[in-house]
Amino acid sequence: MSEATKTMVNNDFSDVVFNRHSVRKFDPTVKISRDEIQAMLTEAAKAPSACNLQSWHFVVIDTPEAKEKFKKAVMPFNYPQVDSASAIVFIAGDTQSHLVYRDVWNQVYQAGNITKERLDQILGTFLPLYEKATPEFLQLDATMDCSIVGMQLLLMARAHGYDANAFSGIDFANMIPTLGLDPKRYVPVMGVAIGKAAEEPLHTERYATTTQTEFL
Ligand SMILES: Cc1cc2nc3c(=O)[nH]c(=O)nc-3n(C[C@H](O)[C@H](O)[C@H](O)COP(=O)(O)O)c2cc1C
Repeated sequence: MSEATKTMVNNDFSDVVFNRHSVRKFDPTVKISRDEIQAMLTEAAKAPSACNLQSWHFVVIDTPEAKEKFKKAVMPFNYPQVDSASAIVFIAGDTQSHLVYRDVWNQVYQAGNITKERLDQILGTFLPLYEKATPEFLQLDATMDCSIVGMQLLLMARAHGYDANAFSGIDFANMIPTLGLDPKRYVPVMGVAIGKAAEEPLHTERYATTTQTEFL
């Protein structure tokens, strides 16, 4: 078992996935250590991403001062989860993730998992794609990566015995500067509030997927 997974308390896949509900009221007295938050992020970051670019950036809000600052760019209907959560992880998309792209594949090569030819092929195929991409492409790509890692974080919170709420009810124009990030580089995606549930969450319904599916 890796260092990161040691604090997992729930390894029941069905329970983690199917008993996940959005919790918006947490026990405000519960503190999650920064080590455990980092472990959850490390586990969440095992999520897939486009070309393995991992175009996500996490801002952790876990103090009253940080919450007050953060709330300036959060819609008031989301204050209850922000105020009561042990921590909120704000996930921003990094449109410059390709600038360090060589490092991650060099690691795979150095670990002996790909040949030099394969390394050159991967970098030769994908790097030009991103270097020449439009800002819209980079923003969309980063947003997709962040959505996937956000979902995995929701599940990791459950695996650690917590509950969570993903929220995008935010001031999209102001969130990135409010967090002190560079608006030219980062795009806002979603917050994930994490803590010990202090309410029985609403059990929501889903449309029958047959109404949303077609087989081509
Ligand atoms: C992209 C996204 C944005 C969301 N934004 C909010 C939000 O701003 N506030 C909120 O309370 N819940 C928000 N939610 C949670 C949804 O309301 C919730 O997932 C949905 O109603 C289904 O309920 P469940 O999560 O309990 O299954 C968001 C969920 C997603 C995936």
